[in-house]
Amino acid sequence: ELGPYRHFMQKEIHEQPRALADTIEGVIDRNGFVPALFGDADGAVLRDVEAVQILACGTSYYAGLVARYWIEAIAGIPCAVDIASEYRYRAAVANPKQLVVTISQSGETLDTMEALKYAKALGHERTLSICNVPESAIPRASRLVYYTRAGAEIGVASTKAFTTQLVALFTLTATLAKLRGRLSDEQEAQYLEALRHLPGSVQHALNLEPQIVAWAERFAAKEHALFLGRGVHYPIALEGALKLKEISYIHAEAYPAGELKHGPLALVDSAMPVVVIAPNDSLLEKVKSNIQEVRARGGEMFVFTDLDSHFGESEQVNVIRTPRHVGILSPVVHAIPVQLLAYHAALARGTDVDKPRNLAKSVTVE
Ligand code: M6R
Repeated sequence: ELGPYRHFMQKEIHEQPRALADTIEGVIDRNGFVPALFGDADGAVLRDVEAVQILACGTSYYAGLVARYWIEAIAGIPCAVDIASEYRYRAAVANPKQLVVTISQSGETLDTMEALKYAKALGHERTLSICNVPESAIPRASRLVYYTRAGAEIGVASTKAFTTQLVALFTLTATLAKLRGRLSDEQEAQYLEALRHLPGSVQHALNLEPQIVAWAERFAAKEHALFLGRGVHYPIALEGALKLKEISYIHAEAYPAGELKHGPLALVDSAMPVVVIAPNDSLLEKVKSNIQEVRARGGEMFVFTDLDSHFGESEQVNVIRTPRHVGILSPVVHAIPVQLLAYHAALARGTDVDKPRNLAKSVTVE
């Protein structure tokens, strides 16, 4: 069942254009976003939402961090994102107008389930689950449910579940914005167009694999790596660092690039590879100046960007470019190169990619 692939992770990375196309096919039709996507009651539950609280673990939590930027910027609703195992033990403030969104590939993660139960015990009735496994525990305990169409994900490292979660969260954002009268027809048309192009843009990112293999072979000899991003791409830096740790066992940390001077810059020397997620978004110039700081300390950079950013290559700055900037959905496209980097670094180190040591696909214990 692996076909031409060596591991499920590699197969699942390459399945993303299909998984995204399937997911997108379910959320839009000729007239726009499909109505009642999150269940029959979605109008009643979502209509006068005044706050969003996202709860998740691991990669699903990073999907939530991306969504926060979208929900606040597009729907204009304050959004908090918590790691489920933290939320369930803190005295959170109940708010009847708050929508509680759990994100879980498996739908069985114990901490996320317990965080949901806790939110409900606090009196939150507006609950929505974004999940990849039908009829699993978390969606069963939620009022509204949205199932991503990633198909079975077998590798312990989450890949296609992540990018399809992002599409689900983007759709939720557009739905909330529409209910609040914040989505013009023109804007909606632009979002639909962006979604239609997404599988193709992800395929373009996958086509960069040979270039990424060359980088990964250099990473395989390292023991540490630093990942940087800003804004909506900061969670992609976090995801890149998690993927690398999880399957190659290289120690990796991610920081918002603006935080460099506040500590991590002290780690930078010629032995520390620095991965930068730097597409042509509104923070690009800021990222470029952060990069100069790394460069001045002798650090070697590996920059994932797009052609529109006009990033120059130099002795210390290696660049891989996707063909064009895709706008608001750029984090989805930029998830691909960091997945491939981790996969090929792990391959070069000979680790058990699909079943990394000490980890389980679904974490059903605390
Ligand atoms: O099934 P879930 O989405 O609830 O799982 C959450 C995390 O355990 C999961 O994303 C984990 O971090 C992955 N192994 C990351 O690749």
